[in-house]
Parts: sequence; C-alpha cells; structure tokens
Amino acid sequence: MKSTVRKSTDARVPARWRADVERVLITETQLARRVRILSRQIERDFSGRELVIVSLLSGTVMFLADLIRQISLPLRLDFIGVSSYGNGTESRELVFTKELRLDVRGRDVLLVDDILDTGKTMKRVLEKLRVLKPRRIQTCVLLNKAARRIENIEADYVGFDIPDYFVVGYGLDFAERYRNLPFVGVLKPHIYESVLPAPIKRKR
Ligand code: IMP
Ligand code: MG
Repeated sequence: MKSTVRKSTDARVPARWRADVERVLITETQLARRVRILSRQIERDFSGRELVIVSLLSGTVMFLADLIRQISLPLRLDFIGVSSYGNGTESRELVFTKELRLDVRGRDVLLVDDILDTGKTMKRVLEKLRVLKPRRIQTCVLLNKAARRIENIEADYVGFDIPDYFVVGYGLDFAERYRNLPFVGVLKPHIYESVLPAPIKRKR
C-alpha cells in the first residue's frame, strides 16, 4: 500500500518554527500512523527470522526509534555511517564514517534509510552489504523522492512518496540542522540559500 504526499497540507507551521519553515509536508500524526503500518508489515514479513536492522546515520534516528519499538521480533541493530551531503542539498562523493560491526552472514537484513533520492547511497551500501553474504536484504525508507532517481533502485518498504522538495525534520537535516522538527517540512528559500555556496537551480 502506498502513501503519497501532495504539495501542501492544511497543517499550520508551529509558531516556534515559523521563521524557518515554509510549510509542513507530513504531520506528526501522519508520520506516527504510517510508521505503525510499516512496523506491522515488517513484523509479519520477517516473523520467525532473526532480523538484523542496519540503519544509516544520522537521518534515520527518529524514524528508526519509532519503527523498531513497534516490531515485536528478536532483532539486532547496527549502524553504518555514510555522509554524502556536506553542507548543501546536492549529493556529493560518498564517505563512510562508521562501518558495520555485527556479523550479517546468513542473516535477514533490513536496511533502513531516511530518504531514497538519487539512489546512489542505497546502491553503494547494498553493494557493501552483499559482500558480507546475508541470506536476504530488504530495504526500508521513510521517504521516496522518485523524481530524482538516477540509479535503478526501489525500496521494499516506503513510508511516503514525496514530490521533489528538499525536506527536513523527523531526523532529516539541512546542513546538519532541523533534525529535531517533529514533522517533515520544507524550509523557507532564504534558509537554503544562506548556506549554499552556489544557488540552487532546481525548484524544491
Ligand atoms: P541519494 O544517495 O541521492 O539517494 O541520497 C540519499 C541521502 O541524501 C539520504 O540518506 C539523505 O541523507 C540525503 N537526502 C536526500 N534528499 C534529502 C532531503 O530532501 N532532505 C534531507 N536529506 C536528503
Ligand atoms: Mg542520510
């Protein structure tokens, strides 16, 4: 079952974020409801298996915390640190900042990321994981920005399909900020422009 987000919601931006946030794309309530559904699907699909969840730092923090506390299966959790965004909104060279420590050989792995954008990160991480010979790898992302895809890759579990906006909140950052917003939103143009060395050409 898919959940697609349109360009705007009726949700008002909370007063304390109004200076920076232009609009709310996905509310806290919508996030909670959808994450619960994903947890249930994952629980059903992996029942009877020994699950290893591999989560990408740092954008998955909130999503992961909400997702796994509703998965009532024995599971182990590990992280891979990967950084591709530097300070702006354009993808750059991928750098691994933390390696996997758990042994995933012969295990069922669920790879969790915050957002599937060009697909470069997911593709690169999947290549890295496959070398370790897990029994099966499934992928789960909170957000899917299909319009920007470069690699031929889709996630097995998707929270929301979103339009081509650079979004922040619920773990997602812009220049390492705004991860703490409890909703997913779009920043005001002057914020994006203030940090970028070059103007963003694409409409977000
Ligand atoms: P990809 O490699 O282009 O698929 O990008 C994936 C990574 O880029 C994600 O893990 C995010 O960290 C980051 N990213 C892509 N789009 C956004 C966005 O709209 N907001 C915040 N981070 C994003
Ligand atoms: Mg990320």
